[in-house]
Amino acid sequence: MEPPHNDMSNASKPDPGRRRRPWVVGVSGASGTPYAASVLRGLLAAGEAVDLVVSRASRLTLLDETGIAFRDAHWRTDLREWLALGADGKPGAFPVTEADLADVRYWPAGDLAAGPSSGSYPVKGMLIVPASTACVAGVALGLSKDLLQRVASVTLKERRRLVVAVRETPLSGPTLKQLVMLDEAGAVVLPASPAFYAGATHIQDLVDFVAGRVLDAAEVPHGLYRRWEGELRGGSKEEADPS
Ligand SMILES: Cc1cc2nc3c(=O)[nH]c(=O)nc-3n(C[C@H](O)[C@H](O)[C@H](O)COP(=O)(O)O)c2cc1C
Repeated sequence: MEPPHNDMSNASKPDPGRRRRPWVVGVSGASGTPYAASVLRGLLAAGEAVDLVVSRASRLTLLDETGIAFRDAHWRTDLREWLALGADGKPGAFPVTEADLADVRYWPAGDLAAGPSSGSYPVKGMLIVPASTACVAGVALGLSKDLLQRVASVTLKERRRLVVAVRETPLSGPTLKQLVMLDEAGAVVLPASPAFYAGATHIQDLVDFVAGRVLDAAEVPHGLYRRWEGELRGGSKEEADPS
């Protein structure tokens, strides 16, 4: 069997005495919880620290897509179960140990006094995966209706990297305008839109392509998908294009 794409067994473990600046990962209530799981595994495999915020609505998508009823009080157990799932719902597809989650901090979505709600709390930036259109609207308008949206607003005001992996189709005019607002505010708008040129054969490959592009936007190294190297499959560019 092929090794899992983002097996964390080789993760470079952080110095236990000093926590690195974390990435905040915000999971909002759009479909696409496997994207979030893949991004989280990728960050941890790269030895990054993570601060996690899971919106209230995303508990419904998580329940629907994985069967996991995510609980604030038992987040570590529930996160471990979630991250072990393959995109096809197969349990135990990825080996995830307690030690892998050692550098994850969890903040309840209603906790507006949480560390990352302030710009003085040191973070590298924020990845919203997946981003609902409600979340896009809230961040574009600066609503800060929960911790996830507040951290996104803080990330923009502090001029840190904000990646918004929006998942909806088709897109309404208001959402399109709000995505332009986010782009103009400095965010990377990254539609959860898998590509097929990387040789996908399984649903996990398509998920990992999107997750890999999110990590690319954060400049986090990973091996989640096969990069384009300028050659069409089955021949060189010259053979395929006689002009
Ligand atoms: C099963 C399910 C799937 C959903 N999928 C999407 C989606 O793909 N995109 C989206 O924008 N909203 C989707 N929604 C609606 C959002 O969950 C809803 O707008 C919610 O208010 C988002 O809140 P949040 O941004 O605070 O997480 C879905 C809801 C459910 C229950």
